[in-house]
Amino acid sequence: MDSHLALLRLAVLVSGSGSNLQALIDAIENQQLPGAELALVISSRADAYGLQRALKHKIPAVYLPWNRNQRLEAEARTLALLRLFEIDLVVLAGFMRIFSPAFVEQFPRSIINLHPALLPDSGMGDTFVTSDGSTIPVFRGLHVLQRALDAGLKVTGSTVHYVIPELDAGPVLYRREVPIQPGDTEETLQERVKQAEHRLIVEAVKKHYERKNKLAQYDWSSCPASVRKQVQAFCEQMQRILENELVAIYLHGSLAMGCFNPERSDLDLLVIIQHQLPIEKQRPVMESLLTLSNAPCPIETSLLVEQDLHPFQHPLPYHLHYSESWRQKMSD
Ligand code: GAR
Repeated sequence: MDSHLALLRLAVLVSGSGSNLQALIDAIENQQLPGAELALVISSRADAYGLQRALKHKIPAVYLPWNRNQRLEAEARTLALLRLFEIDLVVLAGFMRIFSPAFVEQFPRSIINLHPALLPDSGMGDTFVTSDGSTIPVFRGLHVLQRALDAGLKVTGSTVHYVIPELDAGPVLYRREVPIQPGDTEETLQERVKQAEHRLIVEAVKKHYERKNKLAQYDWSSCPASVRKQVQAFCEQMQRILENELVAIYLHGSLAMGCFNPERSDLDLLVIIQHQLPIEKQRPVMESLLTLSNAPCPIETSLLVEQDLHPFQHPLPYHLHYSESWRQKMSD
């Protein structure tokens, strides 16, 4: 493993067979996920085979009882475990319990879920357009494969998405379509969906890690620790109102944040620039930001509008600049 890569410590939460957990174990053991470490497995059931898989590979494994009316207690224990094991990313892989919105909000873009149905990119909405152009309903909740069969669909699939307070919704990392064959039962279809998921879950963790690691490629060493801490808190807060990934960099003593908007082929820009950074120094900051956000368009610094008032009242010693689209978003 490259020594400069930050470790991504994973907790996988299961309730059953754990074949997707196994896919992650295998990928890590075969060096397909450099930088990732399986630090903890939690099961909501004592008899989940996923626990055996974890123990076989010497991964700390915990059975966390979670029956009806036990959610608050179970969440408090989960939180304590995630802190104790210094977890960076929680993977819900066949975890059949629902976290409360208050719990989820503590982990923006840090919990991913494997859902055996197709969700649109934003993870919201009631329909999905498949690769052959047909519009199918989005199924959330339980028995989604049976519901796909009952609806007479020709294709279903599975999606890995970031978890938000709404059930089975949130920005999509990866999805894979699976054709439904004549004569399929819930069991035969589930078997094929799982086959697809075993690659999907590994690809999704990789994509998440690569996104996070982009920040690490930039030199944050000159950024005071206290500022960096505030930036992280700020990013987390912003991430709740964003559909696309927020990126941030610290260059030339300046901090810049932005988010590429593929619909408008534009960069939704929120930029915090340390006091009056000369315009010629703003450009390299913006260009690095564009590279980070994979945005194909050139940057127009004239888009920025200086504002003295920080919308979230963070005590950052910076002037805040943001574009009209951001002003709109903030006032919504
Ligand atoms: C997977 O198919 C996953 O999509 C589904 O449970 C299965 C777990 O399989 N998840 C849900 O239904 C979540 N609501 P596994 O235990 O063999 O990994």
